[in-house]
Amino acid sequence: MNPLLRVLIIEDEDDDEELILRHLAVAGYDLESYRVEDARSLSEALENPNWDVIIADYRLPQFDAMAALSIVKEKNLDIPFLIVSGTIGEQLAVSAMKAGAHDYIMKDNLPRLVPAIEREIREASIRRERRLAEQQLHESHEHLRRLTAHLQNVLEEERKRISREIHDELGQRLTGCKFDLKRLADSLQEKQPDLVPQVDTMLEHLGSLTQTVRRIAAELRPGVLDELGLLAAIEWQSNEFEARTQITCELTNATDEIQMESGKATAVFRIYQEALTNIARHSEATKIWVRVSSGGGFFTLKVHDNGKGVTENDLRNSRSLGVLGMRERAQIYGGEITIKGIPGEGTTLILRMPMSDN
Ligand SMILES: Nc1ncnc2c1ncn2[C@@H]1O[C@H](COP(=O)(O)OP(=O)(O)OP(=O)(O)O)[C@@H](O)[C@H]1O
Ligand SMILES: [Mg+2]
Repeated sequence: MNPLLRVLIIEDEDDDEELILRHLAVAGYDLESYRVEDARSLSEALENPNWDVIIADYRLPQFDAMAALSIVKEKNLDIPFLIVSGTIGEQLAVSAMKAGAHDYIMKDNLPRLVPAIEREIREASIRRERRLAEQQLHESHEHLRRLTAHLQNVLEEERKRISREIHDELGQRLTGCKFDLKRLADSLQEKQPDLVPQVDTMLEHLGSLTQTVRRIAAELRPGVLDELGLLAAIEWQSNEFEARTQITCELTNATDEIQMESGKATAVFRIYQEALTNIARHSEATKIWVRVSSGGGFFTLKVHDNGKGVTENDLRNSRSLGVLGMRERAQIYGGEITIKGIPGEGTTLILRMPMSDN
């Protein structure tokens, strides 16, 4: 069985059409062909996008190849488009190719036609496959991004729930125990004073246990973020960081309280936490400068440390997930992160997050 070739011909001369079709038939193709002579009939014929090739004369009485090319382009079709014509001059041939024609063949050199068609069909098929692969890649990126966003949400909700439970349930019971023990201590004072020091020790343990419970709950999800907002949470986290690491933190707040949707505020906060964790773990810094500002529709968080400075190589390390996670978190909300290090002078991280939700 011969291969089928669906040919759309833009031509006004019967003889020329016949000549072209004869060349294709001799090359061993079964032909399905259709001839058009003006813009309207070309548009109609392109409603069926399954043409293997379009062969156009350069100039027709009421139409020409350039106008035909723009119609094909407008319809976003990638069909091999070959011009078969008498001499049109190099200039016109070049502009036709620039406009999207795939080849130009002189009428007196028709043996070139079939190899040119076969080459262009092959290339169109490669382009199609590449487009498909790119689209699939794009879609799978999109899926991954949506999955990441979803997992972050689930994680935050779960942290919030556990944190509240620890804080409320455990915290309240511990407070209850403390009151009971205090009453016990009071009544023992008269009846069995020798036991009072033991109760005091228990009270001390209970006190530090309460502190631990509060700390764990706050580390899971700082209540200040939900209650007082992002700026207060950043301030709280900065103080915690300074107290825990002995690295001085100079915080400048150059903005009023900002309005930000809760998921986005959480993302900013988690990015800040990861930046601080990285400073504590890797930078060898003695001081950091943190600046929050807003303007031009963006919220900006800048964290600079005076440590050894992150290198491009550090950031390319494929096993490190912290920076990757920060970038992903920012991207979910249309934000972006830049990280730059200068050897011996420190590292600067800048997060820019659009304020409006879309
Ligand atoms: N402030 C900083 N100063 C110096 N080096 C840094 C700084 N922040 C990050 N780095 C370097 O960049 C690397 C990548 O950081 P990233 O947070 O992605 O990974 P990590 O902290 O090593 O591991 P994790 O996945 O647990 O976060 C780090 O391993 C470290 O070498
Ligand atoms: Mg890290």
